[in-house]
Amino acid sequence: MFFNKLACNPCCYSSIFFRGAPVLFKVVPKSFYSMQATSGVSQSWTNSALYQELQETLGGARQSGTYKHERVITSPQGSKVHVAGSSSSVLNFCANNYLGLANHPKVVESAKRALDTYGFGMASVRFICGTQDVHKELEKKITEFHGTEDTIVFPSCFDANAGFFEAILGSEDAVISDELNHASIIDGIRLCKAQRMRYKHLDMEDLARQLEQAKNARIRLIATDGVFSMDGDIAPMQEICKLADKYDAFIFVDECHSTGFLGRRGTGTAEHWNVSSDRIICVNSTLGKALGGATGGFSTGKKLIIDVLRQKARPYLFSNTLAPSVASASITVFDILSSAEGQQLRETLWKNTVQFRTLMGQAGFDVRGGVSGPPIVPIMLGDAALASRMADEMLKEFGIYVIGFSYPVVPKGRARIRVQISAAHSTDDIDKLVNAFISLGERHNIFKRNKL
Ligand SMILES: Cc1ncc(COP(=O)(O)O)c(C=O)c1O
Repeated sequence: MFFNKLACNPCCYSSIFFRGAPVLFKVVPKSFYSMQATSGVSQSWTNSALYQELQETLGGARQSGTYKHERVITSPQGSKVHVAGSSSSVLNFCANNYLGLANHPKVVESAKRALDTYGFGMASVRFICGTQDVHKELEKKITEFHGTEDTIVFPSCFDANAGFFEAILGSEDAVISDELNHASIIDGIRLCKAQRMRYKHLDMEDLARQLEQAKNARIRLIATDGVFSMDGDIAPMQEICKLADKYDAFIFVDECHSTGFLGRRGTGTAEHWNVSSDRIICVNSTLGKALGGATGGFSTGKKLIIDVLRQKARPYLFSNTLAPSVASASITVFDILSSAEGQQLRETLWKNTVQFRTLMGQAGFDVRGGVSGPPIVPIMLGDAALASRMADEMLKEFGIYVIGFSYPVVPKGRARIRVQISAAHSTDDIDKLVNAFISLGERHNIFKRNKL
């Protein structure tokens, strides 16, 4: 085989002799492609309405102080982390690492062992060739932990929520959802054909009204977060269960911000309020927060529901399997949760939470949820630019990492700094955080504003 180049502009032709016969093909100079790519593509892109529209969106976000920046961490997740651009470690109060398990030696070791035993990835969805014994074992562990009938694991809880409603409900049904439910519940509900109804946040009278309105639906399903991540309040499960009984409705709960630490054994909202109800047909939660914080989600509940999800939930049918190392490490996490160590971690987390909430309330901050609220603690500031500025000052001046939340993550005018307490924090860490808040609160006149 040999090449023979023919002159031609802008392309030229070459021939290869393959098994004795000439084969002619076109050779395009590299410069020709790059000329087309830069002139043709960039001109139409930068002049397009889409380009202008997106530029305006970003400009608006920058102007209103809602533009989101990522801070880059160069260490493992923990109560102290290294942030790129900062010479020393900073105190971390914005991870969902409630029990400090993200870098727990037993959890890390379990993931390492699984890499050797099971390899890196499954390269398949679950039902094709993506289920290993470790995935089945994890599902069994979760079922035992929650005392439910069965469990299905998803790549994330976002996926579990995206898959649930469409698989379970039809057009003759109604889903009645707390207005502040997590975006993934809202999106999941959008994907299903059931009638969509919303009740005012935690407002049981409004829930009763909506249930009354839905009385002709074939099935009524109440959907709620267990703990609301932006407001740090806990769904009133006893009252929700009573209304479910009265109106013959079922209940779906998302326990992402409670699994592992809310309730005596850490199973979530129902245990926290000491209610056990047959009406709670499914609990969805994440492995990506208190439970080691890697990735993955699950639905646990009635066997029939889980069976149907295995047949119909699209993120299960059309998305890749959880990595085996994550499945294995998550099994270790559930073992820790059920041990004396797990109990100790929960106690420390709640002690830290009460310390922070009490001191902040005494200092005059508007703390959602009061002294007895969960370890996710919104400090209400109102103004988006102030929330973002204070968060920056916390990091630069005090070496404390917290995040300001503003629209569209929370409603306009309701910006806040959200603090997340962990069992990994010390009493001293909490004191430092409170003192930094007080100092910035004085600088920005927050105590005066709160009194108005
Ligand atoms: C209440 C709630 N549900 C679902 C999710 C999604 O969980 P995951 O990160 O596993 O997709 C989150 C995560 O932010 C959440 O807070």
